[in-house]
Amino acid sequence: MSVRTMHTDDVRELLHKVAGFDQAEGQERVKQILHRVMHDLFQIVEDFDVTPEELWRAVYYVGELGQSGEAALVAPGLGIDRYLDIRMDAEDEQAGRDGGTPRTIEGPLYVAGAPLKDGYDRMDDGTDTQAETMILSGQVTDENGQPLPGAVVDIWHADSKGAYSYFDPSQSDYNLRRRIRTDSDGRYKVRSIIPSGYGCPPDGPTQKLLSLVGRHGQRPAHIHFFISRPGYKHLTTQINLSDDDYTYDDFAFATRGELVRDAVRIDDPETIRANGLEVPYKEVRFDVQLVATEDESLQTRHERPRAQEETNS
Ligand code: DHB
Ligand code: FE
Repeated sequence: MSVRTMHTDDVRELLHKVAGFDQAEGQERVKQILHRVMHDLFQIVEDFDVTPEELWRAVYYVGELGQSGEAALVAPGLGIDRYLDIRMDAEDEQAGRDGGTPRTIEGPLYVAGAPLKDGYDRMDDGTDTQAETMILSGQVTDENGQPLPGAVVDIWHADSKGAYSYFDPSQSDYNLRRRIRTDSDGRYKVRSIIPSGYGCPPDGPTQKLLSLVGRHGQRPAHIHFFISRPGYKHLTTQINLSDDDYTYDDFAFATRGELVRDAVRIDDPETIRANGLEVPYKEVRFDVQLVATEDESLQTRHERPRAQEETNS
């Protein structure tokens, strides 16, 4: 049975009141957007003849999502993070401040306040004995290749099981999370472990929705970066490692061709020793170009709730 009621006075009045249009209090922007959201939801119900059973299942799904703490996990799977990147890229292009290393999504698993070191540090606590050693290094420059000393390279990644410290309480504090200040030549370097890809909790509401549309919830092995320096546009990005089944099939849509990197195995005993190591390791290089800007609001990461982040909102 298909009925049409969206055009009736009853539904129009209902939506008008739902959005608080008849109230003096409240915020106009919220009213406008809530009105559109509820109108479009009701329109979907009409157009797809959504049954009460289906609509209630959706309402309780939202509750389940909130209780599970997975709202910011399902967002990248629904393309929200990638869509915001597409918008920010277009804004940058329009304002003539595009270029440099491309951005890609932050993801929900950053923790603020990682140890800050000059030039180099070890990121792993040495307990992940299954993992391969990784040496990750690069140079931060401006768009003309001029080295940028004193840039802060904030790096975070998963362990060999795809789990992140803090969210995985079995790991030590700030394991696989470091901030490195670039040296006089703009270089940073860390010793860490090769991360594994990440999978959404298999029994959670995120995977439940993805399965309903025939999708997986896997990300390729990847390493996150925030890179910042006064006078330059803050950069949120990641690299994806090239030899992963999901390198070009990321459920979070974060892969960009320019951000895929090989992890090169180093077997040569002399090179191994020169790096202060005893065992073969994998080398990953990631050079970064920042774009100059005088606009201070673009020099820091945008606000969002983050673990251990001090905010005033
Ligand atoms: C998700 C997890 C990540 O590690 C990431 O980088 C992006 C998204 C997620 O679970 O949605
Ligand atoms: Fe991640």
